[in-house]
Amino acid sequence: MSERIESLMDRVVSLCKRRGFVFQSSEIYGGINSCYDYGPLGAELKRNVKEAWWRAMVVERDDIVGLDSAIIQHPEVWRSSGHVAGFADLLVDCKVCKGRFRWDHLPDPKQCPTCGPKGDLTEPRAFNLMFETHAGPVKDSASVVYLRPETAQGIFTNFLNVVNSARMAPPFGVAQIGKSFRNEITPGNFVFRTREFEQMEMEFFVPPADDGTWYEYWRKERFAWYSRYGVRPEKLRLREHAQDELAHYSKGCTDVEYEYPFGWGELEGIAMRGSFDLNAHAKGSGKDLSFFDEATKSRYVPHVIEPAAGCDRTAMTFLVDAYDEETITDEESGKSETRTVLHFHPRIAPITVALFPLVKKAGMPERARELQRTLMDAGMRTYYDEKGAIGRRYRRQDEVGTPWCITIDGPTVEGDGSVTVRDRDSMKQVRVAPQELVPMLLQRMRDWKRA
Ligand code: GAP
Repeated sequence: MSERIESLMDRVVSLCKRRGFVFQSSEIYGGINSCYDYGPLGAELKRNVKEAWWRAMVVERDDIVGLDSAIIQHPEVWRSSGHVAGFADLLVDCKVCKGRFRWDHLPDPKQCPTCGPKGDLTEPRAFNLMFETHAGPVKDSASVVYLRPETAQGIFTNFLNVVNSARMAPPFGVAQIGKSFRNEITPGNFVFRTREFEQMEMEFFVPPADDGTWYEYWRKERFAWYSRYGVRPEKLRLREHAQDELAHYSKGCTDVEYEYPFGWGELEGIAMRGSFDLNAHAKGSGKDLSFFDEATKSRYVPHVIEPAAGCDRTAMTFLVDAYDEETITDEESGKSETRTVLHFHPRIAPITVALFPLVKKAGMPERARELQRTLMDAGMRTYYDEKGAIGRRYRRQDEVGTPWCITIDGPTVEGDGSVTVRDRDSMKQVRVAPQELVPMLLQRMRDWKRA
């Protein structure tokens, strides 16, 4: 083994590749910088992240509805929202090493990060982060369109459609999950900052006088969501933006931050956006985007509280936070070994249950397949494995965070039908009657707490 002590981040990245969570995109062509593909387990992980967010935002409440708006929208949307004029980072070039950097990411703007004191930087200039393309066969300035840099604007432009079709009245929210694109100057830290990513955003429309109360509510709610899904609370914090970090229209913004191996980073922003967006689109479109309150017989433009999260960052956070290497000692042989384990919440884990026939005969594979069908019908993601020693099969599932492994053995086929259920975190096994299996797993899923 190499002498180099790998950092936690290196280990997670290597596990992601080895076990099929995340691959470098276009790898067979040498890869493309900061673009990633999600493999079989990564696709399940991301689906579970989105499912958990949608469940908390839409399914388990009746004051928020969903939306799925287009990536390519009318270019006026981005002029009204301010993105064409102002969605830019300050960029500097180093005249010595020719590197390009984000001005606000330089530790000391007088020093170039790669050339040190020799560095000679150009004056900072604005670089718009929106990807431009052309719609239709003619490539001229009239056909320029943008790939959306956030999902939020599709919600604002549909405000009236949602109010009228879903009969919503403030306080209410519209939630959306989807891809966004930003031509980031310095992408990096694995999937933390990429040019194509998925967002999970919700715009909550409230009467103006209530925005402070709802801002507090969403700060608490969103912080709690991450810990509910197993992220260690000591690794999370809420960071209130200083006055000089706020957009001119914003009354407040708080980031949910996680302590990554490379330092604290933003997972999600909860912003108090006032009536800025609806007013901007009302002005740009000429449409009245106010709300008529039947109770008070008055009209007002709702204020907005926006919890905006990144799906890829959340998936990466769950991975990094769940990762552990434990030394375990075999009771019989006394030998120690290291087990790599992901302590995922069962609703986040890509596979919920793995099924192992003890041997590939005596009716065990058939019985295992039957049980697998039952678990599939109960909505669980399953994995069947009949190869190799049971201990090795457990290790492979620990490494990808499967909470439960079920072994189908002699008593299952010849005796009372019971199976053993082995728990990933405690490594303890219990025998369970077949009819108790699904209720027990569902109960454990509900009760699961990070040890
Ligand atoms: N509508 C508000 C908005 O888009 P943001 O803070 O720019 O706010 C929200 O983005 C979230 O989207 C971030 O907290 C982050 O999780 C995710 N995100 C933003 N840019 C990203 C990027 N380049 N790569 C991955 N995730 C990103």
